[in-house]
Parts: sequence; C-alpha cells; structure tokens
Amino acid sequence: MKNLIKQLTEAYGPPGYEHAVRDIIKDHVTPHADQVETDPLGNLHVVKRGSGGGLKVMLAAHMDEIGLIVTHIDDKGFARLTPLGGVRAETMVGNRAIFTNGALGVINIDNWLMHDGLDSSHRKLYLDFGVKDKKSVPVRVGDVAGFERPWVDLGETMVAKSMDDRIGCAILIETLQQLQQTPHEVHFVFTVQEEVGTRGAATAAYKVHPDVSIAVDVTDSGDIPKRKNFDVKMGDGPAIKVMDGGMLAHPGLKKWLADTAAKNKIPYQMEIMTFGTTDARAMQLAHEGSAAGAVSIPCRYVHTPSEMVSYSDAQNAVKLLVALLSGPINLEDGKR
Ligand code: CO
Ligand code: ZN
Repeated sequence: MKNLIKQLTEAYGPPGYEHAVRDIIKDHVTPHADQVETDPLGNLHVVKRGSGGGLKVMLAAHMDEIGLIVTHIDDKGFARLTPLGGVRAETMVGNRAIFTNGALGVINIDNWLMHDGLDSSHRKLYLDFGVKDKKSVPVRVGDVAGFERPWVDLGETMVAKSMDDRIGCAILIETLQQLQQTPHEVHFVFTVQEEVGTRGAATAAYKVHPDVSIAVDVTDSGDIPKRKNFDVKMGDGPAIKVMDGGMLAHPGLKKWLADTAAKNKIPYQMEIMTFGTTDARAMQLAHEGSAAGAVSIPCRYVHTPSEMVSYSDAQNAVKLLVALLSGPINLEDGKR
C-alpha cells in the first residue's frame, strides 16, 4: 500500500484540477470494478455490485488538496496569490508551489528579513519563479498550483503534503481490491473540490442517492505539544466520527462501525471535532438525507506541507471497511 500512497500523495491536484490523481486511481480500480465513470464535475464513480439483498452504500474520499491561484504578476516577475481551501499563511514561507505545466515557484513574504513572523496574511505572500521580469514568468493570472514535497517513509509513520486526503483515496482503492464479496451495491466515489466546501460530494451524492454514506478523510491528532482536550491519537486506530463542525453522525451508523471494529478486534477511537467538516456532511444532506458518518485517519499537522499519519491506522481502516461491507448493515440500535 505504501507505493500507492507515495504515488497518490506526490501527484498534482488542487481543487478543481484533480485530473492527475483521477488518472492514477482509474488505473488501480478498473480491474476490480463493475463500472467506472467520471461525472460532469470530475468525481470518479467506481461501482461494485454485490450479490443482492443489501443497501446502497456510498464511500467518499476527496482527490483534491489545498492549493493556490495566481491573482497578479508584477513587472519584476513576482506573482501574488490567493488560497484555494484552508491554506495557513504561516506555513507558506519557504514552501514550493507547483503548476500543472511543471513550473515551480518558491513562496515568500514581503520584507522577509524584517518580518516578525506573526502577521503573515496571504496578501503579503508572493511567488518567485527565479526570473527578473514579467515576460519570463512561466504562469499566468488564474493558473492554479498545488504544493511540491516528496512523500517520506518514516517506518510506522509517513509524511506528505497531501495525506489530506490521498490517504483516504488509498484506503478506498485498497478496500475495493480486498473486498471478496458483499450483499451491497457499493459506490466508491473519489470526489473533487472538498477543500473549497465539499462541492463534489454534493453532486455525487445526488447522483448516487445512497442509503448509507461514509466519508474517509483525515482528522486532527491530539498527541502533539500543548494540544488539549482532543482525545484522538495517531497510531491508536481509525477514528469513528461522532460530530464535527458540519454534521452529527447517524447514531445507528456510528454504533455499527464501533461494534464491527470491536467484533473484528480492530483498534478504533471516537472523534469529536468542534470545527471543520468532511464529504459526509454533503452526503448526509442529499435528497431526503442518508445515514452518514465518517472513518477518520488521525493526522498531525493537517493543511501543512508535512502532514503525518500512521501506516497502521490506514491498514486498520481498510480492515474495518472490508469487515463493514462484507456483512449486513444494522442501523437499528443507535436509538436515533
Ligand atoms: Co483538508
Ligand atoms: Zn480532507
């Protein structure tokens, strides 16, 4: 699975420009799927039809990563930018932006040497392509960048610029490949534009019209210096979402996830976030609604160039999803 994670996390894929990621995923899923289709917004729908008698299940992982868009280029060849998604300005100094044509720009901030490091708003950031004038700049206003940073294997943990949410994409691919049999009609959907407001999942869920929906995405990790009152820890197993800033998980679904993990001796933890959200919010609200929840991978330093996750958490998430999809779904004892 590590080769797949490397390939996915190093690919270019800011919001709305997920084609390179989609092509990689298509190659891996096509031999294992009954149907593979790209919808008008760019979501990749991968369907596995089960033996029958089950429900329609939608799993979602987003292909996009946070990015930048060029807003202005000055006469000396420096470009101004605005973020696509939750880019933190303080993580940008020294970062590298990569464009779809391969152009690379280094990012810095006005008055770098004199800067106090605290007031780093996006308006003060600029891209430097190593040129001296406007005509030598290899990009135009409106061009979109992701970030350039290699995947690194630290053994039990891995670091990349886009674990959010290529780790979810890898987990879905691996789950499809390992799933021997299922009674359900399972839609593995690789979504677009999550980072700018779960837009791909909204139209995809409208198309699929699922009974049950589960997002697989990263969440914060509480085991870092001075992070208080957040019990999710990297390496302690996938986290079953209870709530976040955009949704409350379906109580029956949440219980089914936890019971299945316990029955199969898969480590898990419960996640309660007070901010942010995932594709599960969009899937929960499509049509008349679906029973929605999320399996979250604890991630240190989400939305920085060095997002860190545990390999065992990713493997356990695959085990959990395979176990969930292999049998019947019971949403009844959640006491909604
Ligand atoms: Co994100
Ligand atoms: Zn995400």
